[in-house]
Amino acid sequence: MEEEPPQPDNPARDHTAAQHKRARADSETSTSVESIHSTRTLQSEDLEFVQENDRIYANQTYFIPCDQTEQDRLTIQHQVYVYALKGKLTTTKITPSTRRILDLGTGPGNWAVAIAQQYPHAEVVGIDMAVWDLETTEGETGSGRVTWEIDDLDVWGVEPDIDELTSRLEHYDPFRDPAARHLTDSSSRFKGKEPQTQSHSSSVTELSFDPYILKPEAQPGWHFSQPFDFIHARCLSGAFAHWEDVYAEIYKNLMPGGWVEIAAYELVLPEMENSTSEPDEFPFQSLRRLYRAMMTASFKSGRPLGTFYMHPTYLEDAGFKDVRTTYVNVPVGTWPEDEEQKKIGKMFLVVFMESLEPFCLRLLTKYGDAERIWTAEEVREVVEKAKNEILEWDARIEGVRRKEGWCANFKWVVGRKSKNA
Ligand SMILES: C[S@@+](CC[C@H](N)C(=O)[O-])C[C@H]1O[C@@H](n2cnc3c(N)ncnc32)[C@H](O)[C@@H]1O
Repeated sequence: MEEEPPQPDNPARDHTAAQHKRARADSETSTSVESIHSTRTLQSEDLEFVQENDRIYANQTYFIPCDQTEQDRLTIQHQVYVYALKGKLTTTKITPSTRRILDLGTGPGNWAVAIAQQYPHAEVVGIDMAVWDLETTEGETGSGRVTWEIDDLDVWGVEPDIDELTSRLEHYDPFRDPAARHLTDSSSRFKGKEPQTQSHSSSVTELSFDPYILKPEAQPGWHFSQPFDFIHARCLSGAFAHWEDVYAEIYKNLMPGGWVEIAAYELVLPEMENSTSEPDEFPFQSLRRLYRAMMTASFKSGRPLGTFYMHPTYLEDAGFKDVRTTYVNVPVGTWPEDEEQKKIGKMFLVVFMESLEPFCLRLLTKYGDAERIWTAEEVREVVEKAKNEILEWDARIEGVRRKEGWCANFKWVVGRKSKNA
């Protein structure tokens, strides 16, 4: 199933940290609802922003910040995804009949703008609960017309029994098994929810009602005015507790014959070269500590990290057909001999190292690991150590293992809604 790392066929664009004006809550210009190419559904002043440990978050819940530093990281990460697919933006086929495309959790909108630019016949909607600097994305990527919507897609919240979810971590090795589905499946999924059936033994008088006070019950789920031909979601690990419900909504919001594509990557640490090594001699001591703590914290938060939600059975259970996964190995670091591969490896190394703080900071200061809550200083200290370990490893490995080194496993899972659905 694994492919050789591909030879990317498009050059990296120079990325300089965006210094452009930002249309967000921390900016004077946050009332802008319309940019040159796009429209917005909500004004950013309607949104709550949380400043925490010198980072900005969209709300009290989602673990990754939505500030300029994170936008820069996501922009470079987008380039790595495009490289991995040799310049393509999707593993599905976009045809002239693909009229409406939705990007869930669009972030700074790099993918949405790029797909709108590449397929101008399609109407593209990018939705996110956070306000990002979309003018900069449009300025850098081009004139793809995208409708930006601001909304919280997590209409379900978290599992009531977090202890039960966390206890499953005991049987889980996050370094070897990030894609296991059984880990998060819960038989107690609907525990505590009362069935909504009506009693048939009610007498006629009990059934009488006043039509003037009858209010339509708010239906849980997403409310898009029209269905889509293609729904895309990238890097949404840790965003939801109930992926079964997410896939059901995606299915509901697709046209018959429409496609879903979910993309993410897994990073398994390199194997020990000497299997007789004692655990305290393993490389990446701090990185391992951080990674394990981050996974535990994500389980404690009720929204586990990992790529378990990309298991094909999730899509199949939701009703999707023709489910298939594309895997691409992306090098981590400068070890590849091939210059293009070295370039992508270097870019991904930056993305990975810069993901440590945003991934760990809120999770560990809010939920902590198995023992305790961490301080922000402690997180930053271990992050620095982990970054040094990665850099030292990269310097040591460069020129030594040039045939097969450390890779991240990028994957795209797609499925089709039946034409007769
Ligand atoms: C890691 S970023 C990925 C952004 C983009 N998909 C990409 O690949 O560059 C995750 C995005 O999902 C958004 N997100 C997370 N939970 C969300 C929710 N419940 N509703 C809407 N957006 C959400 C975050 O605000 C963030 O922009």
